[in-house]
Amino acid sequence: GELSPVISPVQFRSGAGASAQLSPVLLGYTPLLDANAALQALDGAVKAYDLGRGDWPSMPVLQRIGHVEKFLGLMQQQRREVVRLLMWEIGKNYTDAAKEFDRTCDYIRDTIAALKQQDRAASHFIIEQGALGKIRRVPVGVALCMGPFNYPLNETFTTLIPALIMGNTVIFKPAKYGVLLIQPLLRAFQQSFPAGVINIIYGRGRETVGVLMESGKIDLFAFIGTNKGASDLKRMHPKPHRLRAVLGLDAKNPGIIFADADFKRTLSEVVSGALSFNGQRCTALKILFVERSIADRFVTELSAAVAKLPLGMPWDKDVAITPLPEPGKTVFLTELLQDALAKGAAVQNPNGGETAGPLFRPAVLYPVNSQMRLYNEEQFGPLVPVVPFDHIDEVIDYVVNSNFGQQLSIFGQNARQVGELVDIFANQVGRININAQCQRGPDSFPFNGRKDSAEGTLSVVDALRQFSIPTLVATKYQDGDVA
Ligand code: G3H
Repeated sequence: GELSPVISPVQFRSGAGASAQLSPVLLGYTPLLDANAALQALDGAVKAYDLGRGDWPSMPVLQRIGHVEKFLGLMQQQRREVVRLLMWEIGKNYTDAAKEFDRTCDYIRDTIAALKQQDRAASHFIIEQGALGKIRRVPVGVALCMGPFNYPLNETFTTLIPALIMGNTVIFKPAKYGVLLIQPLLRAFQQSFPAGVINIIYGRGRETVGVLMESGKIDLFAFIGTNKGASDLKRMHPKPHRLRAVLGLDAKNPGIIFADADFKRTLSEVVSGALSFNGQRCTALKILFVERSIADRFVTELSAAVAKLPLGMPWDKDVAITPLPEPGKTVFLTELLQDALAKGAAVQNPNGGETAGPLFRPAVLYPVNSQMRLYNEEQFGPLVPVVPFDHIDEVIDYVVNSNFGQQLSIFGQNARQVGELVDIFANQVGRININAQCQRGPDSFPFNGRKDSAEGTLSVVDALRQFSIPTLVATKYQDGDVA
């Protein structure tokens, strides 16, 4: 069939001076599947599930774990190639790319261990008011798993692995960028899982995933990406209320910095919270509220720290800021930046916002106000908006009125003040970080969010629940019955 080229965001400079040219690098090709091929994959998954009577869903848990263990062993042999592709396809620096691979292997290992432990404790009975019940955890059905480009391995596998291990059959569509890196793992999938259990599809989303949704045969939709992508797809399902969804979506995580915060520690948490992997993390700090009495000094030091972040290629030693994989992203970021400048903010660090091909030099913008797009819109890139505040109520209003509710960070030393805010924000976001940046890990911690930021909860243990259903088998008993 048709092939689709994969171009790297990492570009090569040829020539010098004004005549220098940046040349795109062709990394390889992926098959471009059409709707029919996607439906064939669906057919494979539906047959392998066979209403829960297929070999895979009805296999004993320990045996299914054996298949995942085999996969993990084979996957580890591909570390070098997958890490290399993470660098080339999405521009992730070597350290973070290697971390992503290793974290994913740890996650699979922890999932196996957690399930083994649960399995040992699984056969529990409930005896209550003359009824005897036994809980059986059964799979949900056919799962569609889709991950984002920023963690194309890790975040895809944090739904794919629990879906498989709990007995679902899976259709998995690799992220738009970070798609080739699945190829070194294809053989491992093939050698580890029976036919039809895992089906990988490539191609244009609307054409491929759209028909799967329209078929009504997807039971579980695990998607980490944008709200628009998730709602467009969910809407295509003829019975969306029957679709179990596990979603990780948009966020605008605020960092709240009080005058009494430990300055050095806060700076270092904020720089990495806002700018690791160029700010392309759903968990990044995306807006900073700083108490006015320290705002100028904080911004000066923050800008100095940001100015020191080295820009370069993913393989450069200690590089922090790397090429952005989404075409057109630098244009979008420049629009947000210009909008803030037109409404009274200034770029605080030298050359902030400057672009060179897919590279975008991070920019600290200050003072940001509610009229600017950056105040509410998610930038998902290296822009750091700073808002000075006089009273904490201004920040509380922001959080309460925001459409998002993934996480936030509070930096300060006054335990009472921090404690009061924790009480207020506990109903607004999925995670509150104290004197620490927002982040997903450790992976054993629940990862979720409020409002438009998420549906369901992921973590090693939570995912096992999310991808299965407790079915109760209950009988009435009378004295003398044998259980
Ligand atoms: O893009 C969102 C990821 O879940 C971020 O994960 O906080 O571990 O970098 P992280």
